[in-house]
Amino acid sequence: MTCRSNESLSKLVEEARPYAASGRVADYIPALGRAEKDDLSVAIFDIGNECYYAGDYKKKFTLQSISKVLALALALSDRGFDYVFSHVGMEPTGDPFNSISKLETSVPSKPLNPMINAGALAVTHMINGRDNKEKIDRIIRFVSSFLDGAPVTCNWETAQSEMETADLNRALCYFMKQHGIIEGDVEDLLRVYTAQCAIEMNCFDLARVGAVLALNGVDPETGKQIIAENVARICKTFMVTCGMYNASGEFAIKIGIPAKSGVSGGIMGAVPGRYGIGIFGPSLDEKGNSIAGMKILEMLAREQQLSIF
Ligand code: DON
Repeated sequence: MTCRSNESLSKLVEEARPYAASGRVADYIPALGRAEKDDLSVAIFDIGNECYYAGDYKKKFTLQSISKVLALALALSDRGFDYVFSHVGMEPTGDPFNSISKLETSVPSKPLNPMINAGALAVTHMINGRDNKEKIDRIIRFVSSFLDGAPVTCNWETAQSEMETADLNRALCYFMKQHGIIEGDVEDLLRVYTAQCAIEMNCFDLARVGAVLALNGVDPETGKQIIAENVARICKTFMVTCGMYNASGEFAIKIGIPAKSGVSGGIMGAVPGRYGIGIFGPSLDEKGNSIAGMKILEMLAREQQLSIF
């Protein structure tokens, strides 16, 4: 499907762009520190099979935490509900995405949800595959299935850059290993996780992934069921309760769209039965969410009454 430039969406982008000035690009993963702070693009995939964009919609970015939704969908498909949720919880934390504190105080000791780093690492650990390569290949193929089989790439430079600076994630893994939530080689798990986070696409592709979730797991163009309806429902629920980390409550009140952010500046939205939304704006607020990206969603939600509540 072709995506068309849209004038009113372009106006929203220009209105939102100045907000980027007050944020910062993530640099704790050095490769992400090279992003252009002012970049801003958005694509809306209408379930009725139309697509609109504004900004440089072809620019690719890495999924980072947005990949956690897809990894969860794959782990649920591989292992089923009971197994997955015996290793990771379902509750929001109110803490930053990389926090370790609740891991220590939660009883039983398991990460509170699959969207924080600890929970996402536990989820990636559950994905089937004999070795790293097979696991990474399976994740990439799974993501590609949301794009009707279009090729999906991983930005290996960003993955490597994260490997070199992922000591906080290493700490989370060792803690979980000690408590029996994960087993095996921590470096191996980190290699799969950083590759998953470094999967890259543009905001049009991201909007298409969001559209599959918005349509309860069905591909809007082919009508094929990509993931089970129940898996899509669980993913969207986590997007509402934990998708924007410790900003999820305010986001639900002001915007009310199931959404997932990543520190690259991506946001994926899934408006049930209507739209998939893909946004890229790398300037982040202190909680790790795209500032201008959230502004676009806020304006869109108000204009088109997109809140699910
Ligand atoms: O594990 C990390 O820290 C990154 N690969 C992903 C974190 C992230 O995207 C948080 N999102 N806002």
